[in-house]
Amino acid sequence: MWFRDAVVYQVYPRSFQDADGDGIGDLKGITARLSHIAGLGADAVWMSPTFPSPGFDWGYDVSDYRGVHPDFGTLADMDELVAVAHDLGLRVLLDLVPCHTSIEHPWFREHPDWYVWSDRDGPQNNWRATFGGPAWSKDPHGRGWYLHSFYPEQPDLDWRNPEVPRAFGDVLRFWLDRGVDGFRLDALDRLLKDPELRDDPVATAPPPLPIGNPEHAALEHVHSRDAPDIASAIASLREAAGDAYLVGEVYLPTQGLAPYLEHLDACFSFELFHAGWTAAEVRDALGQAERLGLGELAWVLSNHDFPRLPTRVGERHVRAAAMLLLLLPGAAFVYQGDELGVPDGPRPDPPLDRAGRDAYRTPMPWDDGPARGFTTGTPWLPTYAQPGVDLAAQEADPGSTLHLYRDLIALRRGLPMDLDLLEDVHPDMVAFRRGDVLVALNLGEQRVPAPAVQEVLRHTHDPERRAPVGHLGPGEGFVARAGSRAPATG
Ligand code: NOJ
Repeated sequence: MWFRDAVVYQVYPRSFQDADGDGIGDLKGITARLSHIAGLGADAVWMSPTFPSPGFDWGYDVSDYRGVHPDFGTLADMDELVAVAHDLGLRVLLDLVPCHTSIEHPWFREHPDWYVWSDRDGPQNNWRATFGGPAWSKDPHGRGWYLHSFYPEQPDLDWRNPEVPRAFGDVLRFWLDRGVDGFRLDALDRLLKDPELRDDPVATAPPPLPIGNPEHAALEHVHSRDAPDIASAIASLREAAGDAYLVGEVYLPTQGLAPYLEHLDACFSFELFHAGWTAAEVRDALGQAERLGLGELAWVLSNHDFPRLPTRVGERHVRAAAMLLLLLPGAAFVYQGDELGVPDGPRPDPPLDRAGRDAYRTPMPWDDGPARGFTTGTPWLPTYAQPGVDLAAQEADPGSTLHLYRDLIALRRGLPMDLDLLEDVHPDMVAFRRGDVLVALNLGEQRVPAPAVQEVLRHTHDPERRAPVGHLGPGEGFVARAGSRAPATG
Protein backbone atom coordinates (compact mmCIF):
# COMPACT_ATOMS: atom_id res chain seq x y z
CA MET A 1 0.00 0.00 0.00
CA TRP A 2 1.50 3.27 -1.17
CA PHE A 3 0.55 5.21 1.92
CA ARG A 4 2.16 3.14 4.67
CA ASP A 5 5.44 5.01 4.39
CA ALA A 6 4.37 7.89 2.17
CA VAL A 7 5.66 11.43 2.45
CA VAL A 8 2.65 13.75 2.26
CA TYR A 9 3.16 17.46 1.67
CA GLN A 10 0.55 19.78 3.22
CA VAL A 11 -0.45 22.80 1.17
CA TYR A 12 -2.35 25.66 2.78
CA PRO A 13 -4.09 26.82 -0.42
CA ARG A 14 -4.52 30.50 0.44
CA SER A 15 -0.79 30.79 1.07
CA PHE A 16 0.99 28.55 -1.43
CA GLN A 17 1.02 30.30 -4.81
CA ASP A 18 -1.21 32.95 -6.32
CA ALA A 19 -1.61 32.66 -10.10
CA ASP A 20 -4.05 35.49 -10.81
CA GLY A 21 -2.57 38.37 -8.83
CA ASP A 22 -5.40 38.85 -6.33
CA GLY A 23 -3.05 38.18 -3.39
CA ILE A 24 -4.71 34.86 -2.49
CA GLY A 25 -3.25 31.48 -3.37
CA ASP A 26 -5.25 29.36 -5.81
CA LEU A 27 -5.46 25.98 -7.52
CA LYS A 28 -3.73 27.11 -10.70
CA GLY A 29 -0.89 28.36 -8.50
CA ILE A 30 -0.68 25.00 -6.71
CA THR A 31 -0.69 23.16 -10.03
CA ALA A 32 2.19 25.31 -11.27
CA ARG A 33 4.20 24.43 -8.15
CA LEU A 34 3.47 20.70 -7.98
CA SER A 35 6.88 20.06 -9.53
CA HIS A 36 8.47 21.48 -6.37
CA ILE A 37 6.56 18.94 -4.27
CA ALA A 38 7.38 16.06 -6.61
CA GLY A 39 10.99 17.26 -6.69
CA LEU A 40 11.24 16.87 -2.93
CA GLY A 41 10.39 13.20 -3.43
CA ALA A 42 6.94 13.41 -1.82
CA ASP A 43 4.29 10.83 -2.68
CA ALA A 44 1.17 12.91 -2.15
CA VAL A 45 -0.15 16.38 -1.60
CA TRP A 46 -2.83 17.22 0.98
CA MET A 47 -4.59 20.52 0.53
CA SER A 48 -6.31 22.19 3.49
CA PRO A 49 -9.98 22.80 2.54
CA THR A 50 -10.53 23.95 -1.02
CA PHE A 51 -14.36 24.15 -0.82
CA PRO A 52 -16.59 27.24 -0.89
CA SER A 53 -16.58 28.84 2.54
CA PRO A 54 -17.46 32.21 4.03
CA GLY A 55 -14.02 32.02 5.68
CA PHE A 56 -14.79 32.35 9.37
CA ASP A 57 -12.27 29.52 9.86
CA TRP A 58 -10.53 29.89 6.47
CA GLY A 59 -12.16 26.94 4.77
CA TYR A 60 -12.85 24.75 7.81
CA ASP A 61 -16.37 26.21 7.65
CA VAL A 62 -17.62 24.60 4.44
CA SER A 63 -20.70 25.92 2.65
CA ASP A 64 -20.63 23.44 -0.27
CA TYR A 65 -18.73 20.15 -0.07
CA ARG A 66 -18.88 19.57 -3.82
CA GLY A 67 -17.46 22.83 -5.05
CA VAL A 68 -14.27 24.85 -5.20
CA HIS A 69 -13.91 28.16 -3.38
CA PRO A 70 -14.19 30.94 -5.99
CA ASP A 71 -10.97 32.49 -4.59
CA PHE A 72 -9.22 29.24 -5.51
CA GLY A 73 -10.75 28.61 -8.95
CA THR A 74 -13.20 26.14 -10.43
CA LEU A 75 -13.92 22.43 -10.53
CA ALA A 76 -12.14 22.35 -13.89
CA ASP A 77 -9.04 23.79 -12.15
CA MET A 78 -9.29 21.00 -9.57
CA ASP A 79 -9.56 18.36 -12.31
CA GLU A 80 -6.49 19.86 -13.95
CA LEU A 81 -4.58 19.87 -10.64
CA VAL A 82 -5.40 16.19 -10.05
CA ALA A 83 -4.36 15.27 -13.60
CA VAL A 84 -1.04 17.12 -13.39
CA ALA A 85 -0.35 15.67 -9.93
CA HIS A 86 -0.97 12.15 -11.20
CA ASP A 87 1.33 12.76 -14.17
CA LEU A 88 4.04 13.75 -11.70
CA GLY A 89 3.42 10.62 -9.61
CA LEU A 90 1.71 12.53 -6.78
CA ARG A 91 -1.51 11.44 -5.13
CA VAL A 92 -4.04 14.06 -4.07
CA LEU A 93 -5.74 14.22 -0.66
CA LEU A 94 -8.56 16.63 0.12
CA ASP A 95 -9.41 17.89 3.59
CA LEU A 96 -12.90 16.80 4.51
CA VAL A 97 -14.66 18.49 7.43
CA PRO A 98 -17.41 16.14 8.64
CA CYS A 99 -17.91 17.39 12.21
CA HIS A 100 -19.50 20.71 11.30
CA THR A 101 -20.57 22.81 8.34
CA SER A 102 -20.56 26.53 7.82
CA ILE A 103 -23.57 28.26 9.31
CA GLU A 104 -24.14 29.36 5.70
CA HIS A 105 -24.37 25.81 4.33
CA PRO A 106 -27.88 25.29 2.90
CA TRP A 107 -28.16 22.16 5.06
CA PHE A 108 -28.36 24.35 8.17
CA ARG A 109 -31.51 26.04 6.86
CA GLU A 110 -33.01 23.08 5.03
CA HIS A 111 -32.20 20.19 7.41
CA PRO A 112 -32.16 21.50 10.98
CA ASP A 113 -32.53 17.91 12.24
CA TRP A 114 -29.04 17.17 10.82
CA TYR A 115 -27.59 19.38 13.61
CA VAL A 116 -27.42 19.17 17.42
CA TRP A 117 -29.92 21.32 19.36
CA SER A 118 -30.50 22.18 22.98
CA ASP A 119 -33.96 21.23 24.31
CA ARG A 120 -33.87 24.35 26.50
CA ASP A 121 -34.07 28.04 25.78
CA GLY A 122 -30.32 28.31 26.34
CA PRO A 123 -27.23 26.09 26.40
CA GLN A 124 -28.01 22.43 27.07
CA ASN A 125 -24.89 21.90 29.19
CA ASN A 126 -21.57 23.39 30.30
CA TRP A 127 -19.55 22.50 27.19
CA ARG A 128 -17.06 25.11 26.00
CA ALA A 129 -16.04 25.73 22.38
CA THR A 130 -12.44 24.89 21.42
CA PHE A 131 -11.56 28.52 20.73
CA GLY A 132 -13.41 29.86 23.81
CA GLY A 133 -16.92 30.78 24.88
CA PRO A 134 -19.91 28.48 25.31
CA ALA A 135 -20.32 25.66 22.78
CA TRP A 136 -23.96 26.73 22.29
CA SER A 137 -25.28 29.73 20.36
CA LYS A 138 -28.71 31.08 19.58
CA ASP A 139 -29.87 30.21 16.06
CA PRO A 140 -30.23 33.31 13.85
CA HIS A 141 -33.31 31.65 12.26
CA GLY A 142 -35.05 31.49 15.65
CA ARG A 143 -35.07 27.72 16.10
CA GLY A 144 -33.40 27.64 19.52
CA TRP A 145 -29.78 26.93 20.51
CA TYR A 146 -27.35 24.85 18.43
CA LEU A 147 -24.07 23.16 19.35
CA HIS A 148 -20.70 24.21 17.90
CA SER A 149 -17.47 22.57 19.01
CA PHE A 150 -15.48 25.33 17.30
CA TYR A 151 -16.52 28.86 16.21
CA PRO A 152 -20.24 29.81 16.40
CA GLU A 153 -20.20 29.95 12.58
CA GLN A 154 -19.49 26.17 12.55
CA PRO A 155 -22.62 24.32 13.77
CA ASP A 156 -21.97 20.65 14.64
CA LEU A 157 -23.68 18.00 12.57
CA ASP A 158 -25.57 15.21 14.32
CA TRP A 159 -23.82 12.02 13.22
CA ARG A 160 -26.46 10.01 15.10
CA ASN A 161 -28.93 11.00 12.39
CA PRO A 162 -28.35 8.41 9.59
CA GLU A 163 -28.99 11.03 6.93
CA VAL A 164 -25.72 12.78 7.85
CA PRO A 165 -23.37 9.83 7.15
CA ARG A 166 -25.41 9.20 4.00
CA ALA A 167 -24.84 12.77 2.79
CA PHE A 168 -21.11 12.48 3.49
CA GLY A 169 -20.96 9.17 1.65
CA ASP A 170 -22.21 11.01 -1.42
CA VAL A 171 -19.59 13.73 -0.93
CA LEU A 172 -16.74 11.22 -0.68
CA ARG A 173 -17.89 9.37 -3.77
CA PHE A 174 -18.23 12.64 -5.67
CA TRP A 175 -14.53 13.43 -5.15
CA LEU A 176 -13.28 9.88 -5.57
CA ASP A 177 -15.07 9.79 -8.93
CA ARG A 178 -13.11 12.91 -9.90
CA GLY A 179 -9.85 11.09 -9.23
CA VAL A 180 -8.97 12.20 -5.71
CA ASP A 181 -6.92 9.55 -3.84
CA GLY A 182 -7.96 10.07 -0.25
CA PHE A 183 -8.87 12.43 2.55
CA ARG A 184 -7.52 14.02 5.67
CA LEU A 185 -10.54 13.95 7.99
CA ASP A 186 -10.91 16.96 10.28
CA ALA A 187 -11.71 16.90 14.01
CA LEU A 188 -12.86 13.26 14.07
CA ASP A 189 -12.92 12.95 17.86
CA ARG A 190 -15.82 15.45 17.78
CA LEU A 191 -18.00 13.37 15.49
CA LEU A 192 -19.98 11.63 18.22
CA LYS A 193 -20.68 13.04 21.67
CA ASP A 194 -22.52 11.71 24.66
CA PRO A 195 -26.08 10.98 23.43
CA GLU A 196 -27.46 12.49 26.66
CA LEU A 197 -25.29 15.62 26.25
CA ARG A 198 -24.17 15.45 29.89
CA ASP A 199 -21.94 18.12 31.44
CA ASP A 200 -18.18 17.74 31.16
CA PRO A 201 -16.56 17.48 34.61
CA VAL A 202 -14.17 20.17 35.80
CA ALA A 203 -10.60 19.18 34.93
CA THR A 204 -8.42 18.06 37.82
CA ALA A 205 -5.24 17.74 35.75
CA PRO A 206 -3.73 19.49 32.73
CA PRO A 207 -5.17 18.25 29.40
CA PRO A 208 -3.38 15.27 27.83
CA LEU A 209 -2.55 17.39 24.74
CA PRO A 210 -2.10 21.18 24.82
CA ILE A 211 -5.25 23.29 24.58
CA GLY A 212 -4.77 26.97 23.80
CA ASN A 213 -7.98 28.32 25.28
CA PRO A 214 -8.00 28.27 29.11
CA GLU A 215 -11.83 28.05 29.39
CA HIS A 216 -11.82 24.99 27.16
CA ALA A 217 -8.90 23.46 29.06
CA ALA A 218 -10.74 23.94 32.39
CA LEU A 219 -13.09 21.03 31.57
CA GLU A 220 -12.26 17.39 31.06
CA HIS A 221 -13.77 16.50 27.69
CA VAL A 222 -15.29 13.16 28.58
CA HIS A 223 -18.77 13.82 27.17
CA SER A 224 -18.26 16.53 24.53
CA ARG A 225 -16.22 14.24 22.25
CA ASP A 226 -14.89 10.72 21.64
CA ALA A 227 -18.13 8.87 22.53
CA PRO A 228 -17.70 5.15 23.24
CA ASP A 229 -19.45 4.26 19.94
CA ILE A 230 -17.32 6.64 17.82
CA ALA A 231 -16.10 3.78 15.60
CA SER A 232 -19.59 3.40 14.12
CA ALA A 233 -19.43 6.90 12.61
CA ILE A 234 -15.93 6.33 11.25
CA ALA A 235 -17.12 3.03 9.75
CA SER A 236 -19.60 4.87 7.54
CA LEU A 237 -16.83 7.10 6.16
CA ARG A 238 -14.75 4.03 5.40
CA GLU A 239 -17.66 2.34 3.69
CA ALA A 240 -18.01 5.25 1.29
CA ALA A 241 -14.26 5.64 0.78
CA GLY A 242 -13.59 2.03 -0.27
CA ASP A 243 -9.82 1.58 -0.21
CA ALA A 244 -8.98 5.27 -0.58
CA TYR A 245 -6.51 6.61 1.97
CA LEU A 246 -8.11 8.03 5.13
CA VAL A 247 -5.97 9.79 7.71
CA GLY A 248 -7.69 11.11 10.80
CA GLU A 249 -7.12 14.28 12.72
CA VAL A 250 -8.02 12.89 16.14
CA TYR A 251 -6.82 15.17 18.92
CA LEU A 252 -6.17 12.46 21.47
CA PRO A 253 -3.06 10.86 22.93
CA THR A 254 -1.86 7.70 21.17
CA GLN A 255 -3.57 5.30 23.57
CA GLY A 256 -7.01 6.71 22.64
CA LEU A 257 -6.68 6.13 18.90
CA ALA A 258 -7.52 2.42 18.64
CA PRO A 259 -11.29 2.78 17.91
CA TYR A 260 -10.55 5.21 15.08
CA LEU A 261 -7.95 2.92 13.59
CA GLU A 262 -10.50 0.16 13.22
CA HIS A 263 -11.53 2.00 10.04
CA LEU A 264 -8.84 4.56 9.20
CA ASP A 265 -5.46 3.92 7.59
CA ALA A 266 -3.69 6.18 10.06
CA CYS A 267 -4.16 8.89 12.66
CA PHE A 268 -1.78 11.77 13.20
CA SER A 269 0.51 11.34 16.19
CA PHE A 270 -0.22 14.46 18.21
CA GLU A 271 1.68 12.93 21.08
CA LEU A 272 4.95 13.19 19.16
CA PHE A 273 3.87 16.54 17.68
CA HIS A 274 3.53 18.03 21.15
CA ALA A 275 6.34 16.16 22.88
CA GLY A 276 8.75 18.67 24.38
CA TRP A 277 11.98 18.61 22.39
CA THR A 278 13.86 16.45 24.88
CA ALA A 279 15.13 12.93 24.34
CA ALA A 280 13.02 11.65 27.26
CA GLU A 281 9.72 13.03 25.91
CA VAL A 282 10.40 11.97 22.33
CA ARG A 283 11.38 8.46 23.44
CA ASP A 284 8.17 8.22 25.50
CA ALA A 285 6.06 9.24 22.50
CA LEU A 286 7.83 6.67 20.32
CA GLY A 287 7.32 4.00 22.98
CA GLN A 288 3.56 4.69 23.01
CA ALA A 289 3.54 4.46 19.22
CA GLU A 290 5.26 1.08 19.30
CA ARG A 291 2.62 -0.19 21.72
CA LEU A 292 -0.16 0.92 19.35
CA GLY A 293 1.54 -0.51 16.28
CA LEU A 294 3.96 1.23 13.91
CA GLY A 295 2.43 2.18 10.60
CA GLU A 296 -0.85 3.13 12.32
CA LEU A 297 0.47 6.60 13.06
CA ALA A 298 1.16 9.36 10.59
CA TRP A 299 4.08 11.46 11.82
CA VAL A 300 3.68 15.20 11.77
CA LEU A 301 5.59 17.94 13.58
CA SER A 302 4.02 21.01 12.07
CA ASN A 303 0.75 22.23 10.55
CA HIS A 304 -1.36 25.35 10.06
CA ASP A 305 -2.70 25.33 13.66
CA PHE A 306 0.45 25.62 15.78
CA PRO A 307 3.66 27.68 15.96
CA ARG A 308 6.21 26.62 13.38
CA LEU A 309 9.17 24.35 14.09
CA PRO A 310 11.80 27.00 14.94
CA THR A 311 9.45 28.31 17.65
CA ARG A 312 8.52 24.90 19.00
CA VAL A 313 11.78 22.94 18.91
CA GLY A 314 14.21 25.90 18.75
CA GLU A 315 16.02 27.27 15.71
CA ARG A 316 19.06 25.03 16.06
CA HIS A 317 17.02 21.81 16.34
CA VAL A 318 14.99 22.21 13.16
CA ARG A 319 17.22 19.94 11.07
CA ALA A 320 17.27 17.16 13.66
CA ALA A 321 13.46 17.41 13.82
CA ALA A 322 13.34 16.87 10.04
CA MET A 323 15.62 13.86 10.35
CA LEU A 324 13.38 12.34 13.01
CA LEU A 325 10.16 13.03 11.09
CA LEU A 326 11.43 11.66 7.80
CA LEU A 327 13.21 8.57 9.10
CA LEU A 328 10.60 7.14 11.44
CA PRO A 329 8.66 4.16 10.04
CA GLY A 330 5.22 5.24 8.79
CA ALA A 331 3.76 8.10 6.76
CA ALA A 332 5.36 11.52 7.32
CA PHE A 333 3.52 14.80 6.78
CA VAL A 334 5.55 17.89 5.86
CA TYR A 335 3.88 21.29 6.18
CA GLN A 336 4.63 23.76 3.37
CA GLY A 337 7.71 25.83 4.14
CA ASP A 338 9.21 23.41 6.64
CA GLU A 339 11.56 22.25 3.89
CA LEU A 340 12.96 25.80 3.97
CA GLY A 341 12.97 26.02 7.78
CA VAL A 342 10.56 28.95 7.72
CA PRO A 343 9.81 30.51 11.10
CA ASP A 344 6.54 32.03 12.29
CA GLY A 345 5.60 34.89 10.02
CA PRO A 346 4.74 38.48 10.83
CA ARG A 347 1.38 38.91 12.55
CA PRO A 348 -1.12 41.16 10.76
CA ASP A 349 -2.72 43.92 12.78
CA PRO A 350 -5.61 43.45 13.29
CA PRO A 351 -5.38 39.65 13.21
CA LEU A 352 -7.45 37.73 10.65
CA ASP A 353 -7.77 34.46 12.57
CA ARG A 354 -9.54 34.93 15.89
CA ALA A 355 -7.59 32.03 17.40
CA GLY A 356 -4.27 33.74 16.59
CA ARG A 357 -2.93 31.35 13.96
CA ASP A 358 -2.07 33.82 11.15
CA ALA A 359 1.69 33.61 11.77
CA TYR A 360 1.70 29.89 10.95
CA ARG A 361 0.04 30.47 7.56
CA THR A 362 2.36 33.08 6.05
CA PRO A 363 2.61 32.83 2.24
CA MET A 364 5.32 30.52 0.90
CA PRO A 365 8.61 32.32 0.14
CA TRP A 366 9.67 31.24 -3.35
CA ASP A 367 12.33 33.87 -4.04
CA ASP A 368 13.60 37.21 -2.76
CA GLY A 369 11.40 39.32 -5.05
CA PRO A 370 8.39 41.40 -3.98
CA ALA A 371 5.96 39.33 -1.93
CA ARG A 372 8.60 36.55 -2.13
CA GLY A 373 7.30 35.29 -5.48
CA PHE A 374 3.95 34.35 -3.92
CA THR A 375 1.87 36.92 -5.78
CA THR A 376 2.18 39.87 -8.14
CA GLY A 377 -0.50 41.58 -6.04
CA THR A 378 -0.78 42.40 -2.35
CA PRO A 379 -0.51 39.19 -0.30
CA TRP A 380 -3.49 38.45 1.97
CA LEU A 381 -1.06 37.93 4.87
CA PRO A 382 2.29 39.71 5.25
CA THR A 383 5.29 37.75 3.91
CA TYR A 384 8.67 36.89 5.50
CA ALA A 385 11.56 39.32 5.48
CA GLN A 386 14.42 36.88 6.31
CA PRO A 387 17.12 36.60 3.61
CA GLY A 388 18.00 33.02 2.67
CA VAL A 389 14.63 31.65 3.72
CA ASP A 390 13.29 31.10 0.23
CA LEU A 391 13.30 28.33 -2.33
CA ALA A 392 15.60 30.03 -4.86
CA ALA A 393 18.30 30.79 -2.29
CA GLN A 394 18.21 27.29 -0.83
CA GLU A 395 18.17 25.59 -4.21
CA ALA A 396 21.57 27.16 -4.87
CA ASP A 397 23.02 26.08 -1.50
CA PRO A 398 23.82 22.34 -1.11
CA GLY A 399 24.08 22.85 2.67
CA SER A 400 20.49 24.18 2.92
CA THR A 401 17.51 22.73 4.75
CA LEU A 402 15.87 22.15 1.35
CA HIS A 403 18.66 19.80 0.24
CA LEU A 404 18.51 18.04 3.60
CA TYR A 405 14.79 17.31 3.10
CA ARG A 406 15.39 15.95 -0.39
CA ASP A 407 18.26 13.74 0.75
CA LEU A 408 16.33 12.39 3.75
CA ILE A 409 13.27 11.57 1.66
CA ALA A 410 15.49 9.64 -0.74
CA LEU A 411 17.20 7.82 2.14
CA ARG A 412 13.95 6.65 3.77
CA ARG A 413 12.99 4.57 0.73
CA GLY A 414 13.16 0.85 1.29
CA LEU A 415 13.84 1.00 5.04
CA PRO A 416 12.09 -1.81 6.96
CA MET A 417 8.89 -0.92 8.90
CA ASP A 418 10.49 -1.49 12.28
CA LEU A 419 12.05 0.67 14.93
CA ASP A 420 14.74 -0.48 17.32
CA LEU A 421 15.23 2.32 19.87
CA LEU A 422 18.77 2.23 21.25
CA GLU A 423 19.01 2.31 25.03
CA ASP A 424 22.75 2.60 25.61
CA VAL A 425 23.10 6.18 24.40
CA HIS A 426 23.58 9.56 26.10
CA PRO A 427 20.36 10.82 27.86
CA ASP A 428 20.15 13.78 25.43
CA MET A 429 20.18 11.48 22.45
CA VAL A 430 17.46 9.71 20.48
CA ALA A 431 18.93 6.91 18.40
CA PHE A 432 17.27 4.07 16.56
CA ARG A 433 18.00 1.43 14.01
CA ARG A 434 15.92 0.42 11.05
CA GLY A 435 17.61 -2.68 9.70
CA ASP A 436 21.17 -1.75 8.90
CA VAL A 437 20.50 1.98 9.08
CA LEU A 438 21.10 3.92 12.30
CA VAL A 439 19.74 7.38 13.09
CA ALA A 440 21.26 9.41 15.95
CA LEU A 441 20.05 12.84 17.06
CA ASN A 442 21.22 15.17 19.78
CA LEU A 443 18.15 16.86 21.28
CA GLY A 444 20.07 18.51 24.08
CA GLU A 445 22.13 21.65 24.49
CA GLN A 446 25.57 20.04 25.01
CA ARG A 447 27.99 18.00 22.88
CA VAL A 448 27.37 14.29 23.32
CA PRO A 449 29.18 11.14 22.19
CA ALA A 450 27.77 9.55 19.04
CA PRO A 451 27.15 5.84 18.49
CA ALA A 452 29.83 4.15 16.43
CA VAL A 453 28.81 3.50 12.82
CA GLN A 454 30.39 2.30 9.61
CA GLU A 455 29.62 5.20 7.30
CA VAL A 456 27.59 8.40 7.60
CA LEU A 457 24.98 8.62 4.85
CA ARG A 458 23.73 12.11 5.74
CA HIS A 459 24.73 14.51 8.46
CA THR A 460 22.20 17.22 9.42
CA HIS A 461 24.68 20.02 8.78
CA ASP A 462 27.43 18.63 6.54
CA PRO A 463 26.14 17.01 3.34
CA GLU A 464 29.63 15.79 2.36
CA ARG A 465 30.39 14.00 5.63
CA ARG A 466 30.89 10.23 5.24
CA ALA A 467 33.44 9.39 7.95
CA PRO A 468 31.90 8.47 11.34
CA VAL A 469 31.67 11.33 13.83
CA GLY A 470 32.75 10.93 17.46
CA HIS A 471 30.38 13.57 18.85
CA LEU A 472 27.20 15.39 17.93
CA GLY A 473 26.69 19.05 18.84
CA PRO A 474 23.28 20.43 19.96
CA GLY A 475 20.75 19.96 17.18
CA GLU A 476 23.05 17.73 15.13
CA GLY A 477 22.31 14.25 13.93
CA PHE A 478 23.15 11.73 11.28
CA VAL A 479 21.77 8.76 9.45
CA ALA A 480 24.38 6.11 8.89
CA ARG A 481 25.10 2.59 7.79
CA ALA A 482 25.33 0.91 11.16
CA GLY A 483 27.65 -1.98 10.53
CA SER A 484 28.22 -4.20 13.57
CA ARG A 485 26.58 -3.16 16.84
CA ALA A 486 29.18 -1.21 18.78
CA PRO A 487 28.90 0.77 22.02
CA ALA A 488 28.97 4.59 22.01
CA THR A 489 32.44 6.08 21.63
CA GLY A 490 33.72 8.25 24.46
C1 NOJ B 1 -8.75 21.36 12.84
C2 NOJ B 1 -8.18 22.24 11.77
O1 NOJ B 1 -6.85 21.87 11.50
C3 NOJ B 1 -8.31 23.67 12.27
O2 NOJ B 1 -7.63 24.57 11.43
C4 NOJ B 1 -9.78 24.01 12.39
O3 NOJ B 1 -9.91 25.30 12.97
C5 NOJ B 1 -10.52 23.00 13.27
N1 NOJ B 1 -10.16 21.63 13.00
C6 NOJ B 1 -12.02 23.11 13.08
O4 NOJ B 1 -12.37 22.62 11.81
